[in-house]
Amino acid sequence: MSKFLLPENSVMLSSDFIYGVATASFQIEGGANNRLPCIWDTFCDTPNKIADGSNGKIACDHYTLWQQDIELIESFGVDAYRLSISWPRVINKSGELNQEGVNFYLGILDKLKAKNIKAFVTLYHWDLPQHLEDNGGWLNRETAYRFQEYADLISQAFGDRVYSYVTLNEPFCSAYLGYEAGIHAPGIVGKEYGKKAAHHLLLAHGLAMQVLTKNSPDTLNGIVLNFTPCYPASNKSEDKFAAEFADDYFNQWYIKPVFDGQYPEILSQLPKEHQPDILEGDLAIISHPTDFLGVNFYTRAIYRADEQEIFFQIDPPEPRTDIGWEIYPQAFTELLTSLNETYTLPPIYITENGAAMDDKIIDGAVNDLDRIDYYNKHLNAVHNAIEQGVNIKGYFAWSLMDNFEWAEGYLKRFGIVYVDYETQVRTIKASGYAYKNLISQR
Ligand code: FCB
Repeated sequence: MSKFLLPENSVMLSSDFIYGVATASFQIEGGANNRLPCIWDTFCDTPNKIADGSNGKIACDHYTLWQQDIELIESFGVDAYRLSISWPRVINKSGELNQEGVNFYLGILDKLKAKNIKAFVTLYHWDLPQHLEDNGGWLNRETAYRFQEYADLISQAFGDRVYSYVTLNEPFCSAYLGYEAGIHAPGIVGKEYGKKAAHHLLLAHGLAMQVLTKNSPDTLNGIVLNFTPCYPASNKSEDKFAAEFADDYFNQWYIKPVFDGQYPEILSQLPKEHQPDILEGDLAIISHPTDFLGVNFYTRAIYRADEQEIFFQIDPPEPRTDIGWEIYPQAFTELLTSLNETYTLPPIYITENGAAMDDKIIDGAVNDLDRIDYYNKHLNAVHNAIEQGVNIKGYFAWSLMDNFEWAEGYLKRFGIVYVDYETQVRTIKASGYAYKNLISQR
């Protein structure tokens, strides 16, 4: 199959359903000499952290090639482009705007506007300025206030160019992968750190929502959360308990405070030293109303009980993508319906979904039928959730083009466009043509 097939009457085939492509600053921009260092620069410079020993100094050289990249985006016929702003590019050490960096994004935003492409702007997709990490990073409550100041300045500078602001992308990854498992920057390891970092990130989200609502009341302002739904390895009650605990720890931990103003009950079961320092009023700030929720979905996880760790993730069964993530689209529908039942939510946008595949460029073409199959199944999973009453307004493919896949370096390709990193030539993959075809059918 080389096409995406949705049921004929699907609202996802109506013109008010938004389709887009997504990227993030550190993963594509390069242009590292034109900004302050960030935690990912430092992490890349640390031996054995990145699978191929690479870094983000050049990446897709979008810093130079942004104009042609926007033409590429336009060629898909998408309604929207989700990009992120590099905080260390736009704010200098003393906390003021760096006009050169701001101008880079103004150029992009103006060009998108001229082409009638809605800009979904993420303020934090993991590239924390290194000088803030040197002061404790997300373990320091002050960082949340620095983020609020950045959000305040940048939203004033961007004016009416932005359709939607996302405060944070996937605070789970920043907090857990960065400050607990240590597999992402800044590489800190320890259970006593993860939830503290998470709390300051969520506080940063709430503080930024305050200024975005004030400066940019007509923009859709919200947060992007990632979910890896947790399934039990068996029907045994202890495995079910393990999966529920993991779900609270990894998933509900980030959504419940935003929409219910509370952390999951397991908070009180965590050792005191692992618990965050919650000050009076924090949860009211964190649960500031949002205009939408961004949901990122790639895969599910299966857990069994473990005496010491409470839960243990077993190896995912086949089929899997090239990054080892199980392909299980049913979990996407189940996630969306269960979020809808559990919380009172604003409209949802699928802000990321996609697959790493072992792409080969042959005679100038990439025939990624496996990725087409992944997208087709997941688009239909979204359709099924809408049919079951979930209010979903749009879908973004991750990613526009192959890019720096964090700890995997350039080894894993998620793009619907192939990037030759030697020549920086971009080649639209078969999945890209399928996406374009779907969009044009509306
Ligand atoms: C998400 C990230 C995104 C990309 C995809 C594959 O967790 O937000 O930057 O790396 O995974």
